[in-house]
Amino acid sequence: MARVAGKKAFITGGAQGLGACFARMLADEGAKVAVSDVNIDGARETAAAVNEKHAGAAIAIAHDVTEKDDWERALAEANDVMGGISVLINNAGIGSFGNIETESFENWRRVNDVDVDSIFIGTQLAMPYLKENQPASIINISSVAGLVADGNFIAYNAAKAAVWMMTKSIALHCARSGYDIRCNSIHPVFTRTPIIEPMLKDGSDHKLVRQIPLKRLGEPEDIGYCALYLASDESRFVTASEFKIDGGITA
Ligand SMILES: NC(=O)c1ccc[n+]([C@@H]2O[C@H](COP(=O)([O-])OP(=O)(O)OC[C@H]3O[C@@H](n4cnc5c(N)ncnc54)[C@H](O)[C@@H]3O)[C@@H](O)[C@H]2O)c1
Repeated sequence: MARVAGKKAFITGGAQGLGACFARMLADEGAKVAVSDVNIDGARETAAAVNEKHAGAAIAIAHDVTEKDDWERALAEANDVMGGISVLINNAGIGSFGNIETESFENWRRVNDVDVDSIFIGTQLAMPYLKENQPASIINISSVAGLVADGNFIAYNAAKAAVWMMTKSIALHCARSGYDIRCNSIHPVFTRTPIIEPMLKDGSDHKLVRQIPLKRLGEPEDIGYCALYLASDESRFVTASEFKIDGGITA
């Protein structure tokens, strides 16, 4: 039996990197996937790759997570095409380098808009669909940067910490309301996707790897296995938890 057979997953930021990997791994285990991204060409590529293996399992949707109207339209379309939404993966995110003296207020706002406010509004708008499709699972992609700070990551640290705590608040509300809707966060360490390219300026991952006890960067699948577990009913007793997929770095 496939691990997420019958699940209908809405994945933001699915054009590349982790989101594209989640789409492939969930579809390989029986889910239907709606791949949304502001980069619609990339989202279409992800969906096409999935559909090549599993015909009709994926759709691509143009979607800017900072736009409330986009969320309304994208969720309605995914619900129509997939026949429901039972998994929401809030994955779209951006980073920014800057410390308290150098970071601009504009960047601060942009990072919080994309990484935090989008999860608030998107999850709020997804709740009616998730309630209709219980058991349901919300998976928020935070970061180890939401748990431990770096002097040059002020906006990203604050945003990802907000995602961590917002996750718990959503989870507790759902539990108290008697909904079978779980909500958990994943906290990856540096993982080989386009977002870390600016940190590999000389083409070497040495500086990043030497901080990680397991002595390598994460691969998208390392994070994908956690998302797969949380999307599946294997994690039915797991809510309000944070999953550090970090090669030991936060220890
Ligand atoms: N790769 C890592 O090292 C790492 C580590 C910790 C956390 N994360 C988090 O994982 C998530 C995925 O990151 P990734 O590594 O795949 O990065 P990525 O840059 O490869 O992919 C991010 C995707 O989000 C999309 N996106 C950006 N802004 C958007 C918007 N406004 N609306 C819709 N889509 C938008 C981009 O088009 C892109 O396809 C992010 O939340 C990131 O912060 C990544």
